[in-house]
Amino acid sequence: MARESESGLPIEPVYGPDALDGWDPGARLGEPGGYPYTRGVHPTMYTTRPWTMRQYAGFGTAAESNARYRQLIAHGTTGLSVAFDLPTQMGHDSDAPLAHGEVGKVGVAVDSVEDMRVLFDGIPLDRVSTSMTINAPAALLLLMYQLVGEEQGVPADRLTGTIQNDVLKEYIARGTYIFPPKPSLRLVADLFRYCRAEIPRWNTISISGYHMAEAGASPAQEIAFTLADGIEYVRTALAAGMDVDDFAPRLSFFFVSRTTLLEEVAKFRAARRIWARVMREEFGARNPRSQMLRFHTQTAGVQLTAQQPEVNLVRVAVQGLAAVLGGTQSLHTNSFDEAIALPTEKSARLALRTQQVLAYETDVTATVDPFAGSYVVESMTDELETAALELMAKVEEHGGAVGAIESGFQKGEIERNAYRIARETDSGERVVVGVNRFRLEAEERYEPLRVDPAIEAAQVERLAALRAGRDGRAVEAALSALRKAAEGTEDVLYPMRDALRARATVGEVCGALREVWGTYVPSDAF
Ligand code: 3HC
Repeated sequence: MARESESGLPIEPVYGPDALDGWDPGARLGEPGGYPYTRGVHPTMYTTRPWTMRQYAGFGTAAESNARYRQLIAHGTTGLSVAFDLPTQMGHDSDAPLAHGEVGKVGVAVDSVEDMRVLFDGIPLDRVSTSMTINAPAALLLLMYQLVGEEQGVPADRLTGTIQNDVLKEYIARGTYIFPPKPSLRLVADLFRYCRAEIPRWNTISISGYHMAEAGASPAQEIAFTLADGIEYVRTALAAGMDVDDFAPRLSFFFVSRTTLLEEVAKFRAARRIWARVMREEFGARNPRSQMLRFHTQTAGVQLTAQQPEVNLVRVAVQGLAAVLGGTQSLHTNSFDEAIALPTEKSARLALRTQQVLAYETDVTATVDPFAGSYVVESMTDELETAALELMAKVEEHGGAVGAIESGFQKGEIERNAYRIARETDSGERVVVGVNRFRLEAEERYEPLRVDPAIEAAQVERLAALRAGRDGRAVEAALSALRKAAEGTEDVLYPMRDALRARATVGEVCGALREVWGTYVPSDAF
C-alpha cells in the first residue's frame, strides 16, 4: 500500500532494486530536451546558449566584494555568485562575540540591507542573475536583495537568480544550520510560496550534493542523498498545501565535478533520469519543467593541492570539461590557489578563462550530450542510477531524508567512504600528483591573498551607525510581529521583509526566530 503524504498524495516510491525493471533502454535514453532528460534539459543545449559562467566570490566588506564582482563582469562572467562570511551564514551580526575573527573571512559580511545595497552598487539587478550561497537565513538575504532591487526601481518579478536555501545538507555535511529541521523546512516552504507570489523567476533552492561530495560522498551517494533531500522538500511543500507544478519548476540542484571525468558525466545523466521519474511518477508533476533537473556545478575543491598549485589548473580544466559534457546549466571553476587561500584577482580570472576556452575554443558545445551511446558512459549511467536508487530506498526505510539525518544514516555512509578514500590516498593506491607521487624536493613559494583583519572593526562601526540612525521602535515592533508570525502558521517572509526594510539586522531577525524556534543540536552520528 503506497504511503500517503500529509497532503494526501499517494507516495509510491520509484526506487529500490527492481525500480528499472521493464523500462525500455531506448526510452530510458530519450532525446535531448525530452523526458527523462538523460541527454540534457534542452533540445539544443549549448549549441544555442553556453552554460552560465558563474564564479563564486565574496570576501571582506560589501565594497570589496562589489569590486570583485565588477572585475568578474569585466572579465566576461555571465552570472554572479555571492559567498557570505560565516557570521552572516549563521545569523549573527558582525559585532556578536561569536563573530570575532570570522567577519569577512570566508565570504562577504552582510549585516543589513545597507550592506546589500553596497554589495550590488552599480550592478543593475534586472540585468544580472545572482546566486546567493546562504541557507538557514536564506529568506533574509533574498528579501534584502528584493529591497535593493526595489530601490533600483527593479520590480520583484524581474529579478532572476538562485538562493541555496538547502538546510538539509547543512545538517549532513556543511554545518551552517540554525533552527531544528521542522521550522527550517517550514521556512523553506514559506519561501517557495513567497517566491511564487512575489518573485516568480527566482530559483527558490539549490539542492546540493557538492558539500556531501567534498565531505567524502561517492558519486552514487551524492546523487542519492541530494535527490532524497529534494524529495523531502517536495513533500514539505505539498504538505504545506502547494501544488507540485506551482513550485517544482523553480527547484534547482548543485553538484561537484571530480577529475574522474567519465564517471562524472554518467553521474549527471543518471541524476537527471532519476529526478524526472520521481517527479512524474511519484509526485504526478505534469509540467515538463517540474521534471527537469537543472543544476550548477563546481569543480572539486577537495581535489586541489597546495603542493605545486599550478597543477590545479589542469585538474580544474578536466573537471570543468566533465561538467560541460554532463550538461550543466551553470559552472564555477575553482582557482588554482584555493587550497592555499582565497583566490587573487589573477587566479580568479584564470579560472574564468578556463571556462571560456571550453566554451569558445573546443568543439564540445557543438554536439548535444556527446557521450550518448558510448558503451562506457551509458553503462556507468545505468550502474550509478541503480546504486543511487538502492540508497534512496534505504533513506526511505529511515522515513525519508529528515528521519535518516536524525539517525545519522547519510553522515555515517559518507564518513565510511571518506575513510576509504583517505586509506587509498595514504597507501598511494589513489594517486594525487605532487602529493603522494611526482613530488618536488623543495616547494616553490606562493604569495596568497590575505583578508585585512581591520575590516572587522570597520564592519562593527557600520553596524553602530546603522543602529544609531534607524527608528528603534519601528524595528522592535517589526521584530515582535515576526515572532508572532513564527509562532503561528502564516508566511513569515512578509513580516520579515518589513523588519529588514526598517533596518533590522541579520542577527536581530535570526535572534527573533531563535527565540521562537530554538536551535538545532546534532545527534552523535558515526
Ligand atoms: N534552450 C532554451 N532555453 C535555454 C537554453 C537552451 N539551450 N539554455 C538556457 N535556456 C534558458 C533557461 O531555460 C532559462 O530560462 P528561464 O529563465 O525561463 O528559466 C534561461 O535560459 C537561463 O538559463 P538557466 O536557468 O539554465 O541558467 P541560470 O544560470 O540562470 O540558472 C541554475 C542555472 C542551475 C538553474 C540556477 O539555479 C543557478 O544559477 N544555480 C547556481 C547555484 C550556485 O551558483 N551555487 C554556488 C554554490 S557555492 C557553495 O555552495 C559554497 C562552497 O561551499 C562550495
